[in-house]
Order: sequence, then structure tokens, then C-alpha cells
Amino acid sequence: MVAELFQEEDRAREMAGKLIQLAQRSPAAACAEREGLLAFLRGPMERHMRYEEAAIFPHFQAHGLAEEVQVALKHHAALREATEALANVAPDGDVAARIANVARLLLHHTNFEGDYIYPELTHDEWRELIRETVRPGV
Ligand SMILES: [Fe+2]
Repeated sequence: MVAELFQEEDRAREMAGKLIQLAQRSPAAACAEREGLLAFLRGPMERHMRYEEAAIFPHFQAHGLAEEVQVALKHHAALREATEALANVAPDGDVAARIANVARLLLHHTNFEGDYIYPELTHDEWRELIRETVRPGV
């Protein structure tokens, strides 16, 4: 069960890595991923961040991880900003560059959480986080 859940996390990293490569190799192919990426960022990723902010971070803040939580909150803000920048890119704007930017932030954030936040979660907390993240509908 837990091994399965950790694959979800790996999938987000894998996806971000592929998008960064794709944006370098073929900007047109990266552009084709824009809507799917936006749907992911505004759906599962937004639910994931909201749940962390409401239920996970306060818990860690109270247990000596205030600095890590501040860093993670900055990542969330940057991700939301980059999501809007991607959504609002002008027709002649550089879509591939904005996709690469979001993907880089996503990779950086999942690595940070994987190294500093997730190891501190109990299995139950982790399960609840994934459950909230993959819940259908927004
Ligand atoms: Fe997060």
C-alpha cells in the first residue's frame, strides 16, 4: 500500500522531468501538453497543496519544522503563480518556456518535500494526503 503511494510521488517527478526534456527538444510537442498540465496543476496538485497547507504544515510547524514549512509555502506560491502565467500566456508567447518553468518548480518542490517533509509523515498522514490529492472533482 505505502509502496504504491510512493509511486504517485515518483510519477509527478517523472512527469516533470519529461516535460523539461520535451520543452528543450520540441517546443511544439511541449505546447500540446499545456491543457493536460494545467488540468493537473489546477486539480490534483491544487488539492494536494491545499491539504498540505490546512492539515500537514500546521502539524510540522508545531514540531520544529517551521523553516521547512516556510520554504514549502514559497514553492506553493511560486507554482500557483507559474500556473497562472502558463494559463495566461499570450498567443505569441513562449509556451514551452512557461511549461519548462512550471515543470522545474514542480520537480524542485517534489524533491524538497520528498527529502524534508514526507519522511516526517506517519503512514496514516501520508495516506490521507494522497487520498485528498487523488479525490475526484475539485
Ligand atoms: Fe507541497
